[in-house]
Amino acid sequence: MIDPFGRQISYVRISVTDRCDFRCVYCMPEHMTFLPKADVLTLEELERLSMAFVHKGVERLRITGGEPLVRRDVMKLFNALGSQIGKSNLKEVTLTTNGSQLERFARDLASAGVKRVNVSLDTRDEETFRAITRWGDLNKVLDGIDAADAAGLAIKINTVALKGVNEDEIEDLMLWAHSRGFDHTLIETMPLGEIDGDRIDQYLPLSIVRAHLSRKYSLHESAHRTGGPARYVSVAETSGRLGFITPLTHNFCESCNRVRLTCTGTLYMCLGQNDSTDLRKALRSSPNDALLDNAIDEAILRKPKGHDFIIDRRHNSPALTRPMSVTGG
Ligand code: 5AD
Ligand code: SF4
Repeated sequence: MIDPFGRQISYVRISVTDRCDFRCVYCMPEHMTFLPKADVLTLEELERLSMAFVHKGVERLRITGGEPLVRRDVMKLFNALGSQIGKSNLKEVTLTTNGSQLERFARDLASAGVKRVNVSLDTRDEETFRAITRWGDLNKVLDGIDAADAAGLAIKINTVALKGVNEDEIEDLMLWAHSRGFDHTLIETMPLGEIDGDRIDQYLPLSIVRAHLSRKYSLHESAHRTGGPARYVSVAETSGRLGFITPLTHNFCESCNRVRLTCTGTLYMCLGQNDSTDLRKALRSSPNDALLDNAIDEAILRKPKGHDFIIDRRHNSPALTRPMSVTGG
């Protein structure tokens, strides 16, 4: 699959539920309204859709949410997809999780063929953790990370940089992650979805974080690429890798290799644009994949060149009203 700008689409992020057991302040209001269950694709439908993309050349699938591990029987999907690794175009199935259920699932994920997980962790301070996630329990997440590590999963820690909230702790998080042998990636808040607070108050440009860190550490540009938007440096003092995802200060769209599928079967060709295609209709209208394949081809031809996120005083409403929990980041 090649889009109109010559980018090869080899990666699909699949949100398997919009539900979550946390209520992170930058992601959702505390009283979030979720999709009616009837609108959500079954696990079998999600598998069929995923494999339609794999047959078209997609090599990597990332399961996201909401929190994917709160979806009932989600291991069935991991097992089904995992069994296709190496037997089809599929090379890798990965997971993005808040870690709350990881202690329970780490070994099963490894047995299913998952080799890498991204765990979101914005702080290692219990009180700050509560303030950010509202409902989360830090110790459960840390136990989950230990279990994933013990199960042999490679771990990347994702931290959303929040002004005045975890700003002073970023260095400590990096040192901790690197000491455990984990990659660490910092993310700027993106204007997605209605939240209770004010986004300008939360926005911390990573250029500031980077400048601050480089006073104390030697950061060397790294050629490491995951095909994603992160730009990596290696930190000489820790021998660890630190990634920066800066959607607002830097446009990373030129090398975008991905599309995003929601749990209702809506395909978004760009995280930062509203254009989408309803694949559920094509999926349900026929048991063979001809209609579905056409709908996917047509959608890829509409993939836009890029996004235009802005957070400033004049644009204090979200650039897009759908939250990250719908498109899965
Ligand atoms: N801006 C930036 N990151 C976000 N995440 C969720 N919502 C936002 C947002 N508005 C992060 C989560 C997780 C990843 C999937 O996306 O913390 O690390
Ligand atoms: Fe849940 Fe992730 Fe949103 Fe936090 S950021 S509420 S963990 S989906």
